Amino acid sequence: MKLITTLSDLRTARPLLPGPVGFVPTMGYLHAGHISLAERAKKECASVIVSIFVNPTQFGPAEDLAKYPRDLPRDLALLKAAGVDLVWTPTPEVVYPPGYQTWITVEGLTAPLEGAQRPGHFRGVTTVVAKLFNAVQPQKAYFGQKDAQQAAVLKRMARDLNFPVDVVVCPTVREPDGLALSSRNVYLNAEERQAAIVLYRALSAAKNKYDGGERNADVLRAIMRSVIGSEPLAYEQYVSAADPETLCELKEIDKGVLFSLAVRIGKTRLIDNLLI
Ligand SMILES: Nc1ncnc2c1ncn2[C@@H]1O[C@H](COP(=O)(O)OP(=O)(O)OP(=O)(O)O)[C@@H](O)[C@H]1O
Ligand SMILES: [Mg+2]
Repeated sequence: MKLITTLSDLRTARPLLPGPVGFVPTMGYLHAGHISLAERAKKECASVIVSIFVNPTQFGPAEDLAKYPRDLPRDLALLKAAGVDLVWTPTPEVVYPPGYQTWITVEGLTAPLEGAQRPGHFRGVTTVVAKLFNAVQPQKAYFGQKDAQQAAVLKRMARDLNFPVDVVVCPTVREPDGLALSSRNVYLNAEERQAAIVLYRALSAAKNKYDGGERNADVLRAIMRSVIGSEPLAYEQYVSAADPETLCELKEIDKGVLFSLAVRIGKTRLIDNLLI
């Protein structure tokens, strides 16, 4: 497995890799969710590239950039074991040269949900992913369903900008009790970790009611809200039952629905979703 930091080394190594090339962008502190993306890429592509870059521009001023967890040696061991061919760990100075002022923005899809609560977040995500696509030149790129809005936004961006990249969205990997794996789970103390299963409990309650025939989205949102309300350590940030394509809130569900939510547990903000 090759470890590369500079852009010029990447540009030397990239053409030597057999295609198709599969790409997994990450912010590191890897868990089984990230590894599942690399394994899927390994299955579908001749070569796999993973990037590790904690992207400063997708963090708000009051967010956790400075204390975002990092463990490069451990990440590299996991990626090597997964059979990854090349890991790119660019520095912020490479991605954002001095005087940087160029941005990619996707409009409508970034307005609700995460976009409404994290101003500028998706501008940072789309900008960095566009730059990573330009540098890595993958044929396929792999993202997690856990970040459902991000996946929708990046699919839109790839289409709108004619990136010759197939954006593949992979299932959310969960702990046995249902908690979606996230690098940020490491912030939770034991009591908060227990409380954090409320996200999956709320989503499952909505899905059960839906499976029982309920199609009124207000009723389903209220169910998620009440499950979250029953957990003393949880503070709801939003609950949503939206059209999976447009992310607009639904009144009646006729085709599919994306149940999603953001919840604060102590100081940690967690998100999760179920796509029906
Ligand atoms: N539980 C999971 N299952 C599948 N994919 C995941 C999971 N968690 C994250 N991913 C995906 O891994 C990729 C890199 O995400 P990232 O490095 O931000 O990890 P993360 O766990 O989401 O961290 P954080 O919660 O701090 O944002 C994204 O495409 C994301 O959707
Ligand atoms: Mg993430």
